[in-house]
Amino acid sequence: MSSILDVARIKRDFPIFQAEMRGGKRLVFLDSGATSQKPIQVMDAEREFYSKHNAAVHRGSYYLAEQASEAYEGARARVAAFLDVSAEEVIFTKSATESLNLLAVSFERSTGMLGINAGDEIVVSELEHHANLLPWQQLAKRTGAVLKWFEMNPDGSLDLSDIDRVITPRCKVVAITHLSNVLGSVPDIAPIIAAAHAVGAVFVLDGCQSVPHQPIDIATLDIDFLVFSGHKALGPTGIGVLWGRAQLLEQMEPYLYGGSMIETVTMTGATWASAPKKFEAGVPNMAQAVGLAAGLEYLSEVGLPSIHNWEMQLTDHAIRGLNSIEGVKVIGPQGIENRGGVISFVIAGLHPHDVGQVMDQYGVAVRTGHHCAWPLIRKLGLAGTTRASFYLYNEMADVDVFLESVIGARDYFGKR
Ligand code: ALA
Repeated sequence: MSSILDVARIKRDFPIFQAEMRGGKRLVFLDSGATSQKPIQVMDAEREFYSKHNAAVHRGSYYLAEQASEAYEGARARVAAFLDVSAEEVIFTKSATESLNLLAVSFERSTGMLGINAGDEIVVSELEHHANLLPWQQLAKRTGAVLKWFEMNPDGSLDLSDIDRVITPRCKVVAITHLSNVLGSVPDIAPIIAAAHAVGAVFVLDGCQSVPHQPIDIATLDIDFLVFSGHKALGPTGIGVLWGRAQLLEQMEPYLYGGSMIETVTMTGATWASAPKKFEAGVPNMAQAVGLAAGLEYLSEVGLPSIHNWEMQLTDHAIRGLNSIEGVKVIGPQGIENRGGVISFVIAGLHPHDVGQVMDQYGVAVRTGHHCAWPLIRKLGLAGTTRASFYLYNEMADVDVFLESVIGARDYFGKR
């Protein structure tokens, strides 16, 4: 099968692929769902910032501080262009996890339509990563609000048969993943967004597994908030993004208090700067923001539609291969419709950690366990799964080594 991406050329941009794995094996990296590898362009962007422009942004009046501020705000503008939104609506956080915690804490402190009070309802789903469950679960506990959720069907879709019972006029927030980090399934969010808006609730989209892999159209989706992490999108760790509608950000209370997020301060009170500064207390992760912008630029140059198509070809080959191996079961969607390049599977009678360890002998890096989505795994009646996730630097040959390693794991433990 011919590649729609020049994967060999792309791979040369990622120095990690020159590293030798255990036993001298080449790296078959199938854990981009956890974190992506970084191209040299991202490393260079960070190095250039530290080498030429490093100073605390938005503070000094000297030349270097101006340059640092320009680099940081330039990174914000590039993220905004990537999402096709205005720069004032882009908030840099340290991670998607922090973005979601920011929203939950801010809603707790806010009043009006965004404020969460006893008896209000918050809706999530059984597909959620802990990062999009725990901030809302704990917010409900603190405030006396009620946490509700959409149940998951065995194929990884959501049960929307009772949508009006789940989303009622008491609902204030609905927070759902765009793509399951465990099963790769894509929930049908359009009716959920419409139901949320019909009762005046806001919709938060967890784009951690989608934004780095496929084009996203915020306007068409009609969402109110979007979060994603930088390190899954070729960027460095320590940088996440929160996008929110300007008029909603305006109504929200800050999450962290400190330098640079204020308008005025006295010994007894303070007023806040407008967004995004209101949500960026302290010296921000400047080099990381610059690195993320370089990562997103790389993705745009290669082209997200091609990246998505290529991942689907890899996924198709991998699912067909897994289904042809006796004793192996793919968990979640069985085809490539309504899914991304994330595949969970189990081998009958084997613990995923044991499977992952044998696969490692082949140079294959996969994630094993509950994938920070314990309620989902429990619902499926499993102890965990082994998960492969693809990205733009994976070749078809990686899938072949992957399948060979799965057979190797099965046979190693004699579970034929
Ligand atoms: N959220 C990341 C994953 O699913 C870490 O692996």
